Amino acid sequence: MPTPLEGRHVALGVTGSIAAYKAVDLASRLVQAGSHVVVMLTDEAARFVSPLSFAAIVHRPVVTDLYDPRSEMGMDHVALAEQADLVMVAPATANTLAKMAHGLADDPVTTTVLATGAPVIVAPAMDAKMFENPATRANLATLRERGLHVAGPASGRMASGLTGVGRMVEPEELVGHARLVLGRAGDLAGRRLVVTAGGTEEPIDPVRVITNRSSGKMGFAIAEAARDRGADVTLISARSTQPEPVGVSVVRAASARAMADAVRETAGQADAVVMAAAVSDWTPAAPSATKLKKGAAVDLSLELERTEDVIASVEGPRLVKVGFALETEELESNARAKLAAKGLDLIVANDALQQDAGMGADENRVVIIGRDGEAQQVPTMSKYEVGHRILDRVARLLVERGGRSAGELIEHG
Ligand code: CTP
Repeated sequence: MPTPLEGRHVALGVTGSIAAYKAVDLASRLVQAGSHVVVMLTDEAARFVSPLSFAAIVHRPVVTDLYDPRSEMGMDHVALAEQADLVMVAPATANTLAKMAHGLADDPVTTTVLATGAPVIVAPAMDAKMFENPATRANLATLRERGLHVAGPASGRMASGLTGVGRMVEPEELVGHARLVLGRAGDLAGRRLVVTAGGTEEPIDPVRVITNRSSGKMGFAIAEAARDRGADVTLISARSTQPEPVGVSVVRAASARAMADAVRETAGQADAVVMAAAVSDWTPAAPSATKLKKGAAVDLSLELERTEDVIASVEGPRLVKVGFALETEELESNARAKLAAKGLDLIVANDALQQDAGMGADENRVVIIGRDGEAQQVPTMSKYEVGHRILDRVARLLVERGGRSAGELIEHG
């Protein structure tokens, strides 16, 4: 399943900041995601980066002048605004934000923003002092109030050499914002999902842990896929080095106990819990507060005690519960037994011994088994796509279960 950017028309406005060079990368990422991208440059932006750089990437003429009869805008100044599914202004200078806040339309970018009915994302980029100025603050507050989506700015090293808040959010993250905004109309809009990911770490002492080989990739991919379909997602993650997806609220829970507490705290308000985390079944019974010294000891025995089964312990009359089964033998029968024992609606079975897919890999090959016993074979595909296959089943169950409609959820908070 493609991301929400596939086949969509994105009008990308670039204004006069040194961060304009990063907009070339952003345009490239949008094109790679399957969007039709039209780039509009202000005169100031064209002093930082050549229109040709963008044209070479988007394979379309770049709009640099409101009145150029050869451009799409020269013929009809609101053509791009009407065609766009999404308008992005990245980087957006303090000057452009001020113009937008006051409804000015004296260049291709501000004209398109003023004339469009599509969602607008702005990515501010400016000197830290300009960002802190009450005028800029007020302009951004106005734009937010009007429903524009403001991404950033981020903090870090600025063109001046100083460190502060004012850097444009990185292109990869801006793509996440675009997916979040375009995904809002998806089939999981108004639904709350809790997704868990990663491998738990059980402390032996302050420096040693018992853990497993989980990378967290599957859980993070499910969270992204759910976000792309409009869900309100809480991702509870044990150890994982995966980047945090934009628009997903990430809670860190290192150990099995912390994971159990975090899931219990959030599951009460959730429509579905997808338990992709690899939770340790045992934990040291008495972790040491100080580092265990080896001294003259040759052997060490650790006493382990069972952890609580997290997914088995959460319940709710309408809650959809999805678990995973990681098996090295008897894949389907073991998975079916877990589905029954843990009171799940769905179980996603994967073979821990497959080399090319599953734990640590970017792809997975699974069998999704429902309560009715029906087994759906999902061939090798990206974990993001596997995530969508799982969510297709979750979405169906949510509809069958009735529950509140997306509209009602929004209305009643
Ligand atoms: N799980 C959980 N809490 C635990 C252990 C597992 O919620 N303490 C969840 C996992 O996140 C997964 C499912 O239960 O969704 C099955 O996990 P798995 O490790 O495959 O099975 P176990 O129940 O641990 O059984 P076994 O170790 O015997 O295979």
